Amino acid sequence: MGNIYIIGFMGTGKSTLGRELARRLRKEFIDLDEFIESTSGKRIADIFVAAGESFFRTLERRALAEKAATDNAVIACGGGIVIDQDNVALMRRTGFVMRLTASAEEILRRTAQQNGRPLLDADDRKARVETLMAQREKLYRCAHVTLDTTGLTPEQAVERMVKLVSGA
Ligand code: S3P
Repeated sequence: MGNIYIIGFMGTGKSTLGRELARRLRKEFIDLDEFIESTSGKRIADIFVAAGESFFRTLERRALAEKAATDNAVIACGGGIVIDQDNVALMRRTGFVMRLTASAEEILRRTAQQNGRPLLDADDRKARVETLMAQREKLYRCAHVTLDTTGLTPEQAVERMVKLVSGA
């Protein structure tokens, strides 16, 4: 199967659930944003401020290209990984792409306590989330499977993820 790529909007649980999925499947876990932060020595938010989103996308594309060469890992990607169609093609070619979704209300709730997401740094966060979600909806349809995590406990969500992978 190659790698398992976890994609989806910010706050859908990609990192938390991806890490647990990897543990359950005894696979290596890679968080692409963490990898970018550790190789660049900068927080994602600082990269956006200092060098802009397009530079971050370059780092993201390079990080994915490097990590896609790993086999058999669970790779949690940043929410914007699907903006670049080369990234999409690479993920589909080298693995199984699983999309996580959640309602806008749940995303707002989950991301409220966490900083470090420059794209959600807006006066009207609700409007920002809804606009970005609508813009990206089509892009996320590249996934092989989708799981809605709204209302699920992390345990229930991971259980369903394991089933989706074994049905692949
Ligand atoms: C982004 C999502 C973030 C991070 C960056 C941009 C996006 O990752 O990569 O802030 O464009 O949706 P998470 O989805 O893990 O929050």
